[in-house]
Amino acid sequence: MRKLAAGNWKMNGTSAELSELDALAKVHAESSVDVLICPPATLLSRAADRAGNSIFVGGQDCHAAKSGAHTGDISADMLKDAGATHVILGHSERRTDHGETDATVRVKTVAALGAGLLPLVCVGETESERDAGDTLDVIRSQLAGSLPDDLNGADFVVAYEPVWAIGTGRVPTLYQIAEVHELMRAELTGRFGSSANETPLLYGGSVKPGNAAEIFATSNVDGALVGGASLKASDFGAIIQAL
Ligand code: G3H
Repeated sequence: MRKLAAGNWKMNGTSAELSELDALAKVHAESSVDVLICPPATLLSRAADRAGNSIFVGGQDCHAAKSGAHTGDISADMLKDAGATHVILGHSERRTDHGETDATVRVKTVAALGAGLLPLVCVGETESERDAGDTLDVIRSQLAGSLPDDLNGADFVVAYEPVWAIGTGRVPTLYQIAEVHELMRAELTGRFGSSANETPLLYGGSVKPGNAAEIFATSNVDGALVGGASLKASDFGAIIQAL
């Protein structure tokens, strides 16, 4: 499978920041991995135009319905129409800020697939869950609840993002990352068969140029979902080069 470096700009960026895509395209021209930027929805269409063919552009969330009376929401079809190829679903900030459950993420995943988008489904334990020794159970349960049945492994991406590592500068040990990624591969294989070998498993949470190479060398890590360090092409470019 091709490796994936995904940047989540979260609620950051106005028109001026689109120039980062130009700089990123230059770095990416020398790399052999897939690169995805998920800007805020207000920039999606312009980002897609600017990114051209070399950089994929995705949404940060979508509604489960195709259209209708859902003020402020965006459907998967709308993302696709704006030029998106991917969409992040079930990010911990969506789960916390908007009360999204595994069941919510599951129906959104169905909607994304129906629109022809590649969903990046996020899972991850809180610090208290890790301290209680519940990490693997939490990941197992989130995966089971967030993914619909009958998927082909190549049709989606899973991102493991420990909540306590997001934006904190704290990163799990390489052993901890490997342990969770091994579990995820096994769970997906049990459910979707050998096609699960085609599912990119991303790590996310305080990935920086300085730690990217060792994280990418970890077993079953096929890329990264990067927040803060994706905002500057210089940082994200260095992460892409490490993949
Ligand atoms: O979606 C990205 C993640 O939440 C990671 O964010 O790289 O700023 O820790 P971060």
